[in-house]
Amino acid sequence: MGAESRQPLGLALIGHGKMGRAVEQIAPARGFEVRLVLDEDSNRDGAGIVPEQFRGVNVCIEFTTPGVVLDNIRHVAALGCNLVVGTTGWTGHLDEVRGIVDRTGIGIVYGPNFSIGAQLFFRAAEQAARVFAGFPMYEPYITEMHHRFKKDAPSGTALELKGRIQPALGDREITIGSVRAGYVPGVHELGFDSEADSVILRHTARGRQGFAEGALYAAQWVMGKKGLFAFADLFAA
Ligand SMILES: NC(=O)c1ccc[n+]([C@@H]2O[C@H](COP(=O)([O-])OP(=O)(O)OC[C@H]3O[C@@H](n4cnc5c(N)ncnc54)[C@H](OP(=O)(O)O)[C@@H]3O)[C@@H](O)[C@H]2O)c1
Repeated sequence: MGAESRQPLGLALIGHGKMGRAVEQIAPARGFEVRLVLDEDSNRDGAGIVPEQFRGVNVCIEFTTPGVVLDNIRHVAALGCNLVVGTTGWTGHLDEVRGIVDRTGIGIVYGPNFSIGAQLFFRAAEQAARVFAGFPMYEPYITEMHHRFKKDAPSGTALELKGRIQPALGDREITIGSVRAGYVPGVHELGFDSEADSVILRHTARGRQGFAEGALYAAQWVMGKKGLFAFADLFAA
């Protein structure tokens, strides 16, 4: 994706917090024109998601809070607009959202981690696990490090990584080590360690930009699609 000569896609941002602003900042360089920004005040009870406001909007990106995301999805779907949902904490309602998608014929991409690098890291890790599976002298392990404000451990990404590589490694134990210190945005490592040497695959997040890039990638991808897609599906083999 780049700012090629094609017409920019009209983008509506629902939620103007840390992520909404990160998307807004890079959207023009990725071929989007931000035509509408809705925050809590301008979108109380979905008041901003109406046809007059959505003129010229081709796709929507939603980064708000678990309490309002379902309402926003319902309103956007009623307008027949495709959307990308980055808000977390609502996937207990996935069946309900699938019903909305089926009834309205729109396309939605959702996911808890829109980092393209993290998705490619999972794919590379799956392949590495298959390569090392036949060599039991190499012991697999995962480490993850995040800033001291992160409450959960291990991280969701570390658990996802383990789930992705376990099938290739059968019943072999994969230990996960977590560090919480300082201001580190996020580092994940998959290592294979033997008496002779060590092989390490590492993903290092530098901040929110990676999530914003992924959300815009998903927004481009979902144009013209119908159905409910997990972000990881976009990177399936
Ligand atoms: N998928 C991913 O890769 C990824 C990455 C990072 C974060 N997230 C998730 O994305 C969500 C947002 O994160 P964030 O860091 O941007 O949080 P944030 O800075 O707290 O922003 C949330 C924003 O939503 C706004 N909002 C609340 N109700 C609204 C409504 N009805 N309509 C429009 N906007 C409304 C809030 O407005 P006010 O400021 O007026 O209250 C706030 O600015 C969270 O669920 C977070 O877990 C996902």
